[in-house]
Amino acid sequence: MTPPRPTQLAQILLRNSIHEGDIVIDSTAGNGHDTVFLAECVGLNGRVLAFDIQESAIRSAKAAVIAANLGDRVEFHQLSHAKMAEHAEHGSVAAIMFNLGYLPGNDHHFTTQTEETLTAMAVATDLLKPGGILSVVCYPGHPEGAVEAELVEVWMSSLTSDGWCVAKYAMLGTRKPAPFLLMGRKDGLKSGTTSYSP
Ligand SMILES: C[S@@+](CC[C@H](N)C(=O)[O-])C[C@H]1O[C@@H](n2cnc3c(N)ncnc32)[C@H](O)[C@@H]1O
Repeated sequence: MTPPRPTQLAQILLRNSIHEGDIVIDSTAGNGHDTVFLAECVGLNGRVLAFDIQESAIRSAKAAVIAANLGDRVEFHQLSHAKMAEHAEHGSVAAIMFNLGYLPGNDHHFTTQTEETLTAMAVATDLLKPGGILSVVCYPGHPEGAVEAELVEVWMSSLTSDGWCVAKYAMLGTRKPAPFLLMGRKDGLKSGTTSYSP
């Protein structure tokens, strides 16, 4: 077996943590691969909220869920993930996925921005229910991504002092810094915002 890429591993690990009827969030919908995956996981009675700032990404993700016949489970918002709380209640979400960076072949102007990402991740900690999962794929192989990946990793590590369990997964021996997956489980006993101050 070839070791899975971080984006594949995120789905493998999340599959058993998402249940029929859950509310979940794809905070970087892009071409919709994670949106479709999440829509499969939540079943007939669940709900996926999908966010992206690019009109073309929303269009493409929408087409992917419709092609998978899952359109009725997904609510799309062309909006920054920093504003996710406008559409979800505190402590109501079972899992939130971030796949940072930019869509290959698309306008790199739409790459995720470190400050915005960290703000959105703080919002995510508030929206997740106790025991909920935060999954983040980082891309340190390009200059902006390297800074973002480093600060996101530091931020995720700091969640452990609030009782979170956090892990990092990465390929070894790559020529460029390899993409990696950070995955955190919110403390089952506590709930509340973990703030981010620049
Ligand atoms: C690596 S791509 C996501 C790929 C996607 N998960 C898929 O399966 O195709 C990153 C996406 O984040 C989006 N993005 C950048 N900044 C954002 C923001 N502030 N809020 C929401 N989405 C953002 C980009 O437009 C881009 O589509």
